[in-house]
Order: sequence, then structure tokens, then C-alpha cells
Amino acid sequence: MDGTGVDTGDGATWASGDYGRVGNLWPLIGELLCEAAAIRPGERVLDVATGTGNTALAAARRFATVTGVDYVPELLEHATARAAAEGLPVSFETGDAERMRFADASFDVAVSTFGVQYVPDQDRAAAELLRVVRPGGRIALASWSPDGFLGELLRLVGAHTSGHTGPAAPTGWGTEDHLEKLLGPHVSALTCTERRWLFRFPGPDAFVSYFRAYFGPLTLAYEALSPSAGDGLTTDLVRYVTEHDQAPDGTVEVPSTYLQAVAVKA
Ligand SMILES: C[S@@+](CC[C@H](N)C(=O)[O-])C[C@H]1O[C@@H](n2cnc3c(N)ncnc32)[C@H](O)[C@@H]1O
Repeated sequence: MDGTGVDTGDGATWASGDYGRVGNLWPLIGELLCEAAAIRPGERVLDVATGTGNTALAAARRFATVTGVDYVPELLEHATARAAAEGLPVSFETGDAERMRFADASFDVAVSTFGVQYVPDQDRAAAELLRVVRPGGRIALASWSPDGFLGELLRLVGAHTSGHTGPAAPTGWGTEDHLEKLLGPHVSALTCTERRWLFRFPGPDAFVSYFRAYFGPLTLAYEALSPSAGDGLTTDLVRYVTEHDQAPDGTVEVPSTYLQAVAVKA
């Protein structure tokens, strides 16, 4: 735990708000990750911390045999409904990324989009990814960077809720150095690409109220703050979004950096 309040370790963060309304902003990131991992038909793919299934669905669109695991059952129900609506045969199940039920080497590829980076015990989560992938298989991760827009937003929220002003621990996965420490000794290749995601919203206030309502870490932060402290957080968040806004027309267009990494298990 780093005091930012993101890692509760019991699913409460992600059962708060309505994560599906946030995840539906970025299915493209899961699609890009599946392309980077070169997922092929018939491969056994595990999407760790799948949420509402963004990356699992992307893998299934490539005719892989896909399992998605997450510890919040409500999100998996949403994921299952999405798969059914698209006619995609994905198997979703509840489980903890720190201790998965799968046998060693049972997948060709493990993927995770802004998922495994939130698991509290990072060494254990990395060990589990390495364990369930076969030798020569791939681990493909998309992780918010500490100095990108979302990483800084998490840091700002932590400063308001706990006084912790350092980078939020989950964003460690968004740096090549940290990934090298977590996975490096056990992989034969690690290819990292810094990518940019553009948040588009009708305006700064709309961005903050949307994230407050639906993004669990922010929903919980507001619940923990007094009304006046919550107003202070809102003022800072609106200012922060406005400072990073690049839209020419009064709407919001904010770039946020994330690290796309593909490792090959030795
Ligand atoms: C930001 S969401 C990302 C969801 C999804 N991968 C996506 O691309 O939209 C983070 C997800 O990690 C899941 N998660 C966090 N810690 C977990 C753990 N220890 N075991 C399983 N799932 C976990 C949460 O329940 C949540 O669905």
C-alpha cells in the first residue's frame, strides 16, 4: 500500500462507482494490445483483471480461446453480457490475480489492460503471470505511466485523501525500469512502447463529475472526504484537467501516457 487509497486489495474499489462506464472509453487500448501481442486464432489467452472484458473481447475477436478473470462479480456479469451481445465465446470467472487457480504454463498469452497494475502485491502478481504462461509465451500489459495524465491524477487524489504526494504505486508498472525488475529475470525479451491515449469529454466539469460517479478510486476518495474537502478536490481536479486540455473548442481533449509492454517468457 502506498497510501493513495487505490489498492484496497478486496475489490471494494472497483465495485464502487460503475467501472463499465469508464472501461467503455478505451476498448481501442485492448485492441492495440492484442495486435502488439500478435494474438492468433486458437491461442489460449488469459485476460487478468478483465473488468468488463475489454481486452478479453478483443482477443476473442481474433478467434483465440479466451478466459477473463477478475475479483468483482458485477463487472464479470457486464463482461458476459457484452460477449453474448457480440456472439463471442469468452469464459469469465471470478478469481484473484495474486493466486489464480490455473495450472502452470496453461496459457500461450496473458494480457492485462490497466488491470494487473492495480493488484496490491506486485511481485506476487508478476509471479502469477509468469507461472500461468508457457515458456515462449507472451505477457502483454498496458499500464498508466506515473508521469502521464492519469498517473498524475491518481497522485493528486492521493494527496487529498492521505497526504501521500509520491507517485501512486500502481503506476510503477508504467515504467520500463520497474517492469524489468518485476519480469526481467524470467523473460527473453521485453519490448516497451510509450503510447498516448486521448480523453475526450464535453468539458472539464463533465470529466470530473463522470470520473467521480463511475471511477471507483475517485468515487471512494469523495466518500472518504468531508463535503468541503470534496469541494477542494473538485476545484483541483477541474484546474488540472483544464491545464492539460488541448481542445481548440471548449471541449476536453487530454493526452494520457501509458506503457504498452510485451514480454516473452524464457
Ligand atoms: C481499471 S480496471 C481495468 C479493467 C479492464 N482490464 C479494462 O481494460 O477495462 C482494474 C480492474 O482490476 C481488477 N482487479 C484489481 N485487483 C485485482 C485482483 N487482485 N484480482 C483480480 N482482479 C483485480 C478490478 O476489479 C478492475 O476490474
